[in-house]
Amino acid sequence: MNDTIFHIEGLGGKKTLSGEVKISGAKNAVLPLFASTLLFNGKVSFTNIPEIEDVHRMLELLEGIGVKYTKSGTESYTLDATRVKSTKIDHEIAKKLRASVMLTGPMLARLGKVSLPHPGGCVIGARPIDIFLGGFRKMGAKCTETGDSYVITASRKLRGAEIFLRVPSVTATESLMLAAVLAEGKTVIRNTAMEPEISNLAEFLNRCGAEINGAGTARIEIVGHKGPLKQNGSQWPAIPDRIETGSFLILGALCADDLLISKCEPKHLESLIVSLIDAGVPVEVGKNSLRIKGNGKIKNNKFRSFNITTHEYPGFPTDLQAPISVFLTQSGGEALIFETIFENRLGYTGDLVTMGAEIRALDAHRVIIKGETSLKGRELYGPDLRAGLAFIIAALVAKGESKIHNVYYIDRGYESIDVKLRSIGAKVERI
Ligand code: EPU
Repeated sequence: MNDTIFHIEGLGGKKTLSGEVKISGAKNAVLPLFASTLLFNGKVSFTNIPEIEDVHRMLELLEGIGVKYTKSGTESYTLDATRVKSTKIDHEIAKKLRASVMLTGPMLARLGKVSLPHPGGCVIGARPIDIFLGGFRKMGAKCTETGDSYVITASRKLRGAEIFLRVPSVTATESLMLAAVLAEGKTVIRNTAMEPEISNLAEFLNRCGAEINGAGTARIEIVGHKGPLKQNGSQWPAIPDRIETGSFLILGALCADDLLISKCEPKHLESLIVSLIDAGVPVEVGKNSLRIKGNGKIKNNKFRSFNITTHEYPGFPTDLQAPISVFLTQSGGEALIFETIFENRLGYTGDLVTMGAEIRALDAHRVIIKGETSLKGRELYGPDLRAGLAFIIAALVAKGESKIHNVYYIDRGYESIDVKLRSIGAKVERI
């Protein structure tokens, strides 16, 4: 971790940003795609890969167990897991990256053993891995836990199973689906997460010989493949990042006169788009673009507040909960934010209060935000990736200068965020 900071000059409520922002590939699509290369023999190529810290950490983890990779062009990577041998996931890296746990499924299926520490990542809740372990046990594996480490072993090939997920966990759905691809027979997983990143992964694997049905619904059926997969066709593109898209849409609503968000997938973001349009934000929805148009010129444009309950896809994403809170400090009325996915994802609201926001905490999961309030620039310490991005938006809305620390967290998931912001007129300096 380094101590890079962002120095941001606020717009004091003016809506002056304008131009075009191109959305990068989705972090949470790339991580499982890279993990899935463990199911392959031979090279596997992907495109639309963002240059972000979490992608680099995942590549380091994979390299540590014997996967070779090369970068070709600006956004493409080729991975080759043919000679993968180590069953041990690097403890230091896994403690920084929750997504490391996604490797358990494919490693277990391919190597029959995997050892890992309890995975780290953003401190937004307890984030246990019991659902993963329960699924692997059903497939015939043994899981032992010593201290903060796990060893999962399968003495013979994993076998297909009926698995019900206690909670529709995104990464557990992905990891179990990957394990099932090389298991013997049929696996049915119910109460699965339905996020678009899961459908993207299944579509890619099916293109390469896997038999997965139902991804994107709450029931996924996987028929095991005999032996490793082989990539068919050309490089597989990661879908556009819906959370980056949503973050720029919220920023645009608050700070832009005319903003074109291109290379995105609006149909992955309906809950946010509908909420913003209902609130009075001038959003134009294209096939692969979103536009905030004439926003600065609307006379007395006051946006209306709305309540948010975070929910699994297609509901309102928890990863946009912090950015939308900043929006709600600027809209008229009272709004209730109810964070239902994680236990510790509202801490940042205290920092918004120091900027002038009126936010009252009801309990660990709920706050009430009263708008409209004028925000003042401050020195802020981003506690995690998404709250860090919310601080950027708040700093741009605010009057005066802000310094945002812990930029490392923001760089984990947003590609060249400062470059993109400067390109639409924001005064953001990386120091
Ligand atoms: N959970 C359990 N046991 C488990 C797994 C999950 O109790 O074995 C609980 C979690 O503690 C949480 C809930 O289930 O309360 C849902 O968590 P989930 O497992 O779905 O989250 P995740 O898979 O760890 C992914 C994204 C997160 C995103 C969540 C929810 C990736 C790599 N990460 O995490 O993204 O917030 O789904 O949509 O896909 C981010 O990008 O900033 C980020 C945190």
